[in-house]
Amino acid sequence: MLELTKEYPSLTAVDSISFTVRQGEIFGFLGPNGAGKSTTIKMLATLLKPTRGTALINGYDIVRQPNQVRQSIGMVFQDPSLDERLTARENLVFHAMLYNVPSREMNSRIASVLEMVDLADRQHHLVRTFSGGMKRRLEIARGLLHYPAVLFLDEPTVGLDPQTRHRIWQYIHGLQQQHRITIFMTTHYMEEAENCQRIAIIDHGRLVALDSPLKLKEQYSASSLDEVFIHLTGREIREEIVRPQLGSSPRGHLRRRR
Ligand SMILES: Nc1ncnc2c1ncn2[C@@H]1O[C@H](COP(=O)(O)OP(=O)(O)OP(=O)(O)O)[C@@H](O)[C@H]1O
Ligand SMILES: [Mg+2]
Repeated sequence: MLELTKEYPSLTAVDSISFTVRQGEIFGFLGPNGAGKSTTIKMLATLLKPTRGTALINGYDIVRQPNQVRQSIGMVFQDPSLDERLTARENLVFHAMLYNVPSREMNSRIASVLEMVDLADRQHHLVRTFSGGMKRRLEIARGLLHYPAVLFLDEPTVGLDPQTRHRIWQYIHGLQQQHRITIFMTTHYMEEAENCQRIAIIDHGRLVALDSPLKLKEQYSASSLDEVFIHLTGREIREEIVRPQLGSSPRGHLRRRR
C-alpha cells in the first residue's frame, strides 16, 4: 500500500497510508469508529477509487488492474450483503457465476465451502430463515468460493456469540494454514486482535502503529491491547464516558461515539 488516500469534501477519511502485508499473514486492522478502516478495505477491494496513492494486491495494482485484483480477493462486508430471498446455495451459485468459477468446478467448490462453514445441511433453506451467525458463516463461504489469494473481512464476527466467533476463528486459522490465504481483517474485539500476527492501528485516517500484538504491548508498556489502543487513539476521556453505557457488551469490545 503506497500513500493510499481517500478525501471527501469535508474530511480525509484515509490519509496517505503505506504498509505491506505478507503473503499468508493474518493481519488485523484496528481503529475507533470512523477511523477509516472500511474506506481502506473498499479501496483495496476496488469498490472505491483512491484520491491518491495505490496498492498492489497479489501483484496487481488496484487503480490500473481492478479486474485482476477482483479475481484475487474475497470480501466479507461490514454490512450483510446476502440475498435473503434466495437459498444459501443459490447465493453461492450466483457468486460463482459473477466470478467466472468454471461450471464443471462449481458444484464441488460449493460443497467444499459449505462443508467448511458447516452449512451443508442447510444449503437449500432460504437465507432469511438463518440466524446472524449462520449468515456470517455463509458470507465467509461465499468470500472463499473463487479461491482468493487475499480475503478481506470487515468486522466478520460482530454481534456473534463467543462460540460462533471461536468457530469462525478456527476457519480463519485453517484457511491460513491449509491454503496460505492472506487474511486482512478489521475487528473491535481486542482478544481477537491477539490472533493476528501483526496489527495496524489507524486513527483519523492515519496509521499510528504497526507491529505484532506482543511488540505493541511491550512498546507501550501495556498489559493489554486495550491499553495500547486507548493510548494510541487518545480517547481515554471519551472511553471513561462511554464505558458505563456499554453495560453488558463483551469485554474488550470498544465502541466509541464521535
Ligand atoms: N461517502 C462518504 N462521504 C463522506 N464521508 C464519508 C463517506 N464514507 C465514509 N465517510 C467518512 O469517512 C470516515 C471513515 O469511515 P469508515 O467507514 O472508513 O470508518 P471505519 O473505520 O470503518 O469505522 P467503523 O468502525 O465505524 O466501521 C468517517 O468519518 C466517515 O463518516
Ligand atoms: Mg467500518
